[in-house]
Amino acid sequence: MREQEFIPNKYSNSINKGQVTWQSPSNIALIKYWGKKANQIPANPSLSFTLNNCKTTTRLEFQKKSKNSNNFDFELFFEGKRKDEFKPKIQQFFKRIEEYCPFLKDYSFQIYTENSFPHSSGIASSASGMSALALCVMSLEKELNPDITTEFFNRKASFLARLGSGSACRSIEGKLIEWGAHKSFPESSDLYGMQYEFEVAEVFKTFQDTILLVDKGQKQVSSSVGHNLMHGHPFAEARFAQAHSNLEQLKQVFASGNLEEFIEIVESEALTLHAMMMSSNPYFILMKPNTLQIINKIWDFRESTKTSVCFTLDAGANVHVLYPEKDKEKVLEFIKNELVGYCEKEKYICDHVGEGAEKLGAAD
Ligand code: PMV
Repeated sequence: MREQEFIPNKYSNSINKGQVTWQSPSNIALIKYWGKKANQIPANPSLSFTLNNCKTTTRLEFQKKSKNSNNFDFELFFEGKRKDEFKPKIQQFFKRIEEYCPFLKDYSFQIYTENSFPHSSGIASSASGMSALALCVMSLEKELNPDITTEFFNRKASFLARLGSGSACRSIEGKLIEWGAHKSFPESSDLYGMQYEFEVAEVFKTFQDTILLVDKGQKQVSSSVGHNLMHGHPFAEARFAQAHSNLEQLKQVFASGNLEEFIEIVESEALTLHAMMMSSNPYFILMKPNTLQIINKIWDFRESTKTSVCFTLDAGANVHVLYPEKDKEKVLEFIKNELVGYCEKEKYICDHVGEGAEKLGAAD
């Protein structure tokens, strides 16, 4: 679909007030998105597992304004408390999506949001948070235009979520989502994420992700600053080409179920992401000493037990431990015995591949 197709014609319905609630998950990229062009267009395609337990629940209440105004009117509550410091991010999101959702200035909104994972756990809530809000906005659009199909609904929700936070466009559906144009994925688009539609071996459909919380502090460098540092980065072009080729190879691996090759691609992607950070100007390091301790322990355990366990990282110090469901008991035992000591307050979160966002309430 082209961008223009997300600009609505006249709406057939009108609605004065209502509310809707969506629960939307986080996702973990196997092929990493790092570097973007204008308007949140990714510099390379990426692919992720949708998660199940790490999620944001957002309720959007809306009332039609009695007088026209040229402002976005909204209040934001995080875990029941007003959070004015989150407002600029939402204001920016509304501004970016206004062209595609021209009704936004006709309503006053109250946004109530909460995460299933602890605040300041170092887990980015932008993917789950922005996708949940995008879905709520789409539910209002569906009230105004009941004819829209589920496919269009999900596609536009992903398109809008992308404008909030790139990786959020991969949190609408499950279990594997591809985002970004790639020659081997004929329908793929830079504008939205899509369900991976090729063959996937059973083992990947129930993959586990245990997130080790190494550092719960605020990141020193935000993702948006990091993405921007890929402009003029000496290795940028080679990295973008590598992502295309890794995605191509991962497609074969999903079909064959070859876990050794899976591990090689996934770990290489994680380390390359961090290598890009370490070689940008200015350079920075988001891993912590305990991140490296954990990586080495995983490598030792894999070598000595021949278990297909590996790691990936997002833009932070936490480690995502990935493994097949059949090895759950063994790997959790290993995590408890050997890895929790490297986590802040011994905290970790057990998650696995999930089905995508879920609507909890209906507009009335
Ligand atoms: O969605 P953003 O702009 O926060 O970027 C996230 C980028 C990584 O998490 C590091 C990789 C990815 O593809 O999710």
